[in-house]
Amino acid sequence: MWDLGPAVVLGDEIVGQQSLHGPRFGHVGEISTGSWLGQRFQGRGIGREMRVAVVDFAFSVLGAREVVSAARVDNAASNAVSRGLGYEENGRYLDAPRGVPVEFLHWRLTRSRWLELRERYGVPVTVTGVSECLEMFGAPSAQDAATDDVDRKLRALQVAMTHEYPTGDIEDMLAEIERGRGDGAAGNEP
Ligand SMILES: CC(C)(COP(=O)(O)OP(=O)(O)OC[C@H]1O[C@@H](n2cnc3c(N)ncnc32)[C@H](O)[C@@H]1OP(=O)(O)O)[C@@H](O)C(=O)NCCC(=O)NCCS
Repeated sequence: MWDLGPAVVLGDEIVGQQSLHGPRFGHVGEISTGSWLGQRFQGRGIGREMRVAVVDFAFSVLGAREVVSAARVDNAASNAVSRGLGYEENGRYLDAPRGVPVEFLHWRLTRSRWLELRERYGVPVTVTGVSECLEMFGAPSAQDAATDDVDRKLRALQVAMTHEYPTGDIEDMLAEIERGRGDGAAGNEP
């Protein structure tokens, strides 16, 4: 069982988090994700980009079989991110995160579907520093990385998934993200 919680950084500001969870990853190859963004940064295309980054990491680096997600049925933004990236609806269930029953939508994206669609999403994903800690995820390709040097492995866990923007000003970067989305660079519902 493991959890990875990469920060979403814009310029030098942490604006959110896009986490991955692998409670049964070593056995079933499934990874689930969760996310949040500061309110000021919502609705501008970042949520989609950060999901692309971790989904690509899950499939291309960790060798996941499928990635799943869930959101309240009335969480339009989260459900739109999943739907837009080609996840398929995988049923509904009731949960009660605040003690009151609420309906959730469950989403599922298979590896084969991601490999078929990923070129359309237009977000270049670069992953660095991961090779030495692959075994900690129970990844299929981790055999060569085995080592008992825990400190070194933890340092290597500083995984960076970056999308480079041409300017350093945060408002310019947000505008650039929104422009890319308007141009269709972030892709459309397949
Ligand atoms: C969920 C969240 C991470 C999505 O990130 P975001 O940056 O707001 O989303 P984006 O701007 O990338 O938009 C993604 C899609 O959602 C749609 N969308 C965004 N906000 C929306 C809203 N308020 N209502 C309806 N659709 C919305 C966009 O139109 C886009 O759809 P498209 O790809 O079909 O054009 C972010 O909204 C958030 O942090 N929300 C609060 C925390 C939360 O709900 N976390 C998820 C828990 S399951």
